[in-house]
Amino acid sequence: MTRLDTAALDLDWVRGHFPALQGGWVLMDNAGGAATLEAVAARTAEYMRRWPVQLGATYGPSAEAGELQARARTALAGLFSRGGGAALPPERLAMGAATTSLLSRLARALLPTLSPGDEIVVSEADHEANIGPWLRLQAHGIRIRWWRVRPDSMRPEAEDLDELLGPRTRLVCFTHASNLLGSVIDPRPVVARARTVGARCCVDGVAYAPHRALAPAELGIDWYAFSLYKVFGPHCALLSCSADGAAMLANLNHEWMSAPAPATRLEPGAWPYELAWGAAAVPEYLDALETRHGQPAFDVISAHERTLTAAVLDWLATRRDVRVIGAAEAGPDRLPTISFVSARKRPGEIVAAVDAARIGIRHGHFYAPRLVAALGLPRDEGVVRISMAHYNTLGEVEQLLQALEAAL
Ligand SMILES: Cc1ncc(COP(=O)(O)O)c(C=O)c1O
Repeated sequence: MTRLDTAALDLDWVRGHFPALQGGWVLMDNAGGAATLEAVAARTAEYMRRWPVQLGATYGPSAEAGELQARARTALAGLFSRGGGAALPPERLAMGAATTSLLSRLARALLPTLSPGDEIVVSEADHEANIGPWLRLQAHGIRIRWWRVRPDSMRPEAEDLDELLGPRTRLVCFTHASNLLGSVIDPRPVVARARTVGARCCVDGVAYAPHRALAPAELGIDWYAFSLYKVFGPHCALLSCSADGAAMLANLNHEWMSAPAPATRLEPGAWPYELAWGAAAVPEYLDALETRHGQPAFDVISAHERTLTAAVLDWLATRRDVRVIGAAEAGPDRLPTISFVSARKRPGEIVAAVDAARIGIRHGHFYAPRLVAALGLPRDEGVVRISMAHYNTLGEVEQLLQALEAAL
C-alpha cells in the first residue's frame, strides 16, 4: 500500500470542527454531501432561537435580523472571489434550496431573452441540474446543441465547441468539474470561444467548490452555482450573477421586488434566513484554516487531497480487475473523487461490502446518467465512487483500501 507524506494540513484541528467525523464512520461520499461544520449547526440553531422574525420591520429583533442577513450575504458572496477577481456584490448573489432549483429558476428567468431558434449548448459531462432546465426550454422553440464527451479523454474538449457555436448560440452550460470523474474542466477556453459568438456561460461549480477557490468573475462566467451542503454548510445553494447576467433576469418575484437587487428576482419567497446565517460560518472556517496554516486555504486543502487521491489511485492501479473511470493519476486537474468498475463484481455488491466496514461510499450514475451512458457503462449500477474531502486522512484511506481488498 502506498504511504505518502500528508501535506502540512493540521488534521486534528480540521477534524475537530466536524462533529459527524466523530461518529465512527469513515465518510467518503462527500461529493454527495459533506460533513457540516459545528459552527454552521450552532449558528443556524442560534438564529432560529433568537431571531424567529420576518425581516424589514422597525422593531428591534427584525432590524437586527436584517443586519445579520446583510452580513451573512456579504460573507457568502466572498466565497465567489476567494480565487481572485472582483468581489461579488451581495445583491448579485441568489440563494435557494439547491443548485437544481436555482438553475431551474435561472432558465425560467432567462427565457424572455431568448427567441425560438436560439441555441443553447449543454455538456454531456454534466449533472442533470445543468442540463434538464435548459432541455425544458425546447418547449419554447429553443434548440439544444450537445457538447459531447470524447471517449478517449472522457471529457468534453473545448475545441469541439468550434463546430457547435454559431450566430444563434446564446448560452454555453457546462460543469467546472465532473462529480463522477473528478476531472476539472478549464472554463477559460470555453468562455473565450463562447464570447466570439456573443454567447454567455452558465457553470455548475458544485463538484469543484469543496476543493478549489472560486473566481467566476475573473473567468468571465455570467452565472455560477454551487451547493453549500457540499462545502461543509447547510442544505442550500448559491448562484452568482455577473452585472450583465443579473440585468438579463426576468423577475420571478413579486412585481415590486425586482429592484434594486437583481438577484432578488430569483428568490421568490426570500431565502432561508437561518441557513444563510449558519452558512456564513463556512468562509469564517476557511479564513481560520488559512490563518492557522499561513497559506491560502484551498492551497493547503488541495495539496492534502492530492495525497489522498494518489494513495487511492496507486492502489487501484495495482488491481488488474479494476478500471478507473477518469484520470488514473493524481494532478492539479484531478479532484479527490474517484470512480471505478470491477471486472468481477457489480458496483452495488462492492459498496454493500464496504458499508459493512463502516465506510460510506456509493455507487450509481450520480445524476449524470448521460455521462455514464456516453462512457458505455450500465446506467443503473453505474460506477463505484469514492469521494474524499480535506478532512479525510491517510489512515482512513488505508481502512478503505483494506475494505476494498476484501470486497473485490
Ligand atoms: C456536479 C453537481 N451539480 C449539481 C448538483 C445538484 O446539486 P443540488 O443537490 O444542490 O441540487 C450536484 C449534486 O450532487 C452535483 O454533484
